[in-house]
Amino acid sequence: MKPGAVGGVGRRAALSAGAALSVAGLSGESAATELPLRERARRKGLLFGAAARSFNLRDDPAYAAAFARECGVLVTEWEAKWGPLRPTREEFSFGAVDALWQFARRHGLGFRGHALVWHEHMPRWIAGMENRAARGILEEHIRRVLARYPRAQSWDVVNEAIDLKDGRADGLRQTVWLRALGPTYVRDAFVLARAADPHTLLTYNDYGIEYEDRDSRAKRVAVLRLLESLRQQDAPVDVFGVQAHLNPARPFDPAALRGFLRGAAEMGFDIYITELDVHDRDLPADGARRDRIVADHAQAWLEAALSEPRVKAVFTWGLSDRYNWRNEVEWSRRRDGLPSRGLPLDQDLQPKPFWTAIARTLDGAEPRGR
Ligand code: XIL
Repeated sequence: MKPGAVGGVGRRAALSAGAALSVAGLSGESAATELPLRERARRKGLLFGAAARSFNLRDDPAYAAAFARECGVLVTEWEAKWGPLRPTREEFSFGAVDALWQFARRHGLGFRGHALVWHEHMPRWIAGMENRAARGILEEHIRRVLARYPRAQSWDVVNEAIDLKDGRADGLRQTVWLRALGPTYVRDAFVLARAADPHTLLTYNDYGIEYEDRDSRAKRVAVLRLLESLRQQDAPVDVFGVQAHLNPARPFDPAALRGFLRGAAEMGFDIYITELDVHDRDLPADGARRDRIVADHAQAWLEAALSEPRVKAVFTWGLSDRYNWRNEVEWSRRRDGLPSRGLPLDQDLQPKPFWTAIARTLDGAEPRGR
């Protein structure tokens, strides 16, 4: 189904009303008086935040101000991953994450760490780790990182553990941790994290579960099975994170998304939308047209997601196109060389229709009980 076809006439009318409002709210001056996303979320018992890198916040005061205005939570986009954080087996390179932590404290933002276990961006020395050393290394990592940033709002404890292409019956991805520790490494990571900080909310985070193509559907089943097995193993998982790197070209069905989220909610998990952005590589070059498609798709998807009451947070993967990760990764870059417009603020830090789409969706959400 095409994104524009979702929901019939009522939905189109609502969208064009939203579009009119967004045009009125889009000039720099009037946008400054708009209620920021963090406040719109707060009114509904929700959190809004975004991922950031320390050097962007440090070197760009205008961006830092926009970030502190819009966001209630700061997510560590890059610097809390093993690669940057663990240059050697002995060393922790905490400087950049410390800067993010201090920024969050200074501006009264929650701090969300990403990620304690992930197969990508691992330091090279990990390849030489002996299997019998793995548990100690993982334990020390989780203990020291959580001790340094106590009572964070939440952490991605395990990121992207499922990959059906690896062909295992349990769906687990072949990673260095699976090889060294066996399939219970997922539960073990949560147990270690809970022991290290009983207060921070612990997330299992994954992607490729947002749509109705065959791969997404199969992965949804595998992810729900993993969550179920973590429950059975008494793993202290608080939150299920759905990354939501959206793509308007993929088949979307709001009812199916709601059903999937309900499945996780019924197992007792809160749900966060953890890495929202829109893949605009194949969208029209024209900025206004592209912005419209991005916003309409994001709004339709987000409205369906937020109709599940256990969805308690929306975090975007970056706040502004000025620092948009999609321009950096080869597979995401546009062939015409134009920069991505897949984040809520444009390169001049002005709200785009995507920002308005998030604002309207938050405004329309049912209030959450805490
Ligand atoms: C990305 C960062 O944004 C980039 O700066 C980095 O080069 C690569 O990783 N899913 C995730 C994130 O869980 O960690 C990724 O972040 C985006 C996809």
